[in-house]
Amino acid sequence: NLNSFKAGDQDTDALLKLRDENKLLREKLDALGKDNANQSKINGGGEDEDEVNPWDVKASSDKGVDYAKLIVKFGSSHVDAALISRLEAVTKRPAHPLLRRGMFFSHRDLNLILDQVEKGNKFFLYTGRGPSSEAMHLGHLVPFMFTKWLQDVFDVPLVIQLTDDEKFLWKDLKMEECQRLGWENVKDIIALGFDVKKTFIFSDLTFMGQCPSFYQNVIRIQKCVTYNQVKGIFGFDDSSPIGKIGFPAVQAAPSFSSSFPFIFGDKKKVPCLIPCAIDQDPYFRMTRDVAPRLGYMKPALLHSSFFPALQGAQTKMSASDVNTSIFLTDTPKQIKTKINKYAFSGGQATVEEHKEKGGNCDIDISFQYLRFFLEDDEKLEKIRRDYSSGELLSGFLKKELIDKIGRASCRERV
Ligand code: TYM
Repeated sequence: NLNSFKAGDQDTDALLKLRDENKLLREKLDALGKDNANQSKINGGGEDEDEVNPWDVKASSDKGVDYAKLIVKFGSSHVDAALISRLEAVTKRPAHPLLRRGMFFSHRDLNLILDQVEKGNKFFLYTGRGPSSEAMHLGHLVPFMFTKWLQDVFDVPLVIQLTDDEKFLWKDLKMEECQRLGWENVKDIIALGFDVKKTFIFSDLTFMGQCPSFYQNVIRIQKCVTYNQVKGIFGFDDSSPIGKIGFPAVQAAPSFSSSFPFIFGDKKKVPCLIPCAIDQDPYFRMTRDVAPRLGYMKPALLHSSFFPALQGAQTKMSASDVNTSIFLTDTPKQIKTKINKYAFSGGQATVEEHKEKGGNCDIDISFQYLRFFLEDDEKLEKIRRDYSSGELLSGFLKKELIDKIGRASCRERV
């Protein structure tokens, strides 16, 4: 207790001064927490605002989320033509269709990763899955397919985190069930063909107890972030279980190479690139904020837009509603039925009207899905032209899509 020291004692005066400065700092941090609390409005959105956070995605327009606005709100950068050209020059490969077509539309510090590659330095990739359903859906495939391409072209290590702990905390599921779902989902992930020698897939519930370095980083991160800050970023409140409040540090830790000494030895500053959909960005805004304070590198990110629900682009495909989603375990027959029955059409009410006015590709779900999965640029462009002019009907687009993903979706054949 500083007050019990004799006033005038030199050390005590210095300590008292320090305490006052500390108080000031704390007040400033609290004010910052309040600023961050306002940010939940940014993530959560007002009435005419899109809602994008790790647990909810809702767009106010039927064309889906306004991604240009989101970039401004989140403070990330647009993946522009110059960046794509630079990536092509560095990798000496044509960019992946998901980049060329603007699905991976936003990034943080991708240029710094390319700088490292040009200098002949390596980086590592990190992505993940929160196992809440028996099988993954097509939307989940997007970041994993892209990560596979990045691993192929850059030939770098990859870590994949299964946040079975997150799902235990957020969902009404038993712990054993979360672990089981995680291992089920791993089947979908490994089916994509990652480099077995360079890929490490782990479940939090298992790995955290096995790797002291990982847990030590979690604790370091937790020491740097206040309740006010996570409240602002993630919208936690006074009745949130403390497990949820501490969890963001667990998703942050794999961004640092020192969490994996069995992969990186004592290299604490291997740069990290995280491909994910933009809903996961709040976790990594927090991570980038604490990184310099721990003497680590800020992870770079590449954000994708959302693969929409069958019913329309206003929500993302979500595992919690089976009819909005095509799962990797769905049979070709189930996929055909789901597309024919639910895929929202951008066509007109009657054939005559359609031929006259044409279809709307921006809201037509079959077209939107083809943008993700049809590699042939020319064919896609022809479909866009002919559907917009009214020459092609919705039924044709649905059939094209069924032909394309009716097979692509089966787990054995991905
Ligand atoms: P999860 O399981 O919700 O999603 C896994 C990955 O899929 C992305 N995603 C989508 N992408 C396109 N369209 C969609 N409709 C769609 N739905 C989900 C997510 O952005 C994510 O990239 N907490 C995380 C797991 C995690 C993680 C990570 C993800 C842990 N560490 C690092 C990315 C990067 C989660 O529950 O993801």
